[in-house]
Amino acid sequence: MSERTLVLVKPDGVARALVGEVISRIERKGLTLAALELRTVSEETAKAHYAEHVERPFFPSLIEFITSGPVVAMVVEGERAIPAFRQLAGGTDPVEKATPGTIRGDFGLETQLNLVHGSDSPESAEREIGLWFPGL
Ligand code: PPS
Repeated sequence: MSERTLVLVKPDGVARALVGEVISRIERKGLTLAALELRTVSEETAKAHYAEHVERPFFPSLIEFITSGPVVAMVVEGERAIPAFRQLAGGTDPVEKATPGTIRGDFGLETQLNLVHGSDSPESAEREIGLWFPGL
């Protein structure tokens, strides 16, 4: 079943020139790009994107981080695109959860600086794609 997911290369991934690496892994997996843009995120968009985490202690720091520099936002599509990209990304903590061979496991050291975001459910994907690429 083909589906779409919202993927972000976060400011740390862009600053470390890992955009090509992330896109390459997406394409090698067999997924395709439906949209892609380099963007600086407004505080308003950042807060809307992470709205479900507003009560978590790291929320202010997460908003500061995601607005700290350009991100690459993409809509990725294909068979089971949502779990497929989560598999490529690896777990949230790049050391304790992500395994070698995943994006976070191969390139990350800190939870906040975990390089990429991928929608976690069909409902989140629809909401996030509507926020980042309205009308797509
Ligand atoms: S998940 O998989 O979305 O449920 O991950 P979760 O652990 O709930 O984390 C939600 C997002 O918050 C980020 N996060 C953190 N940022 C900074 N500091 C700490 N301690 C921290 N813990 C989690 C995490 O990277 C998730 O962001 P996204 O962009 O969705 O990956």
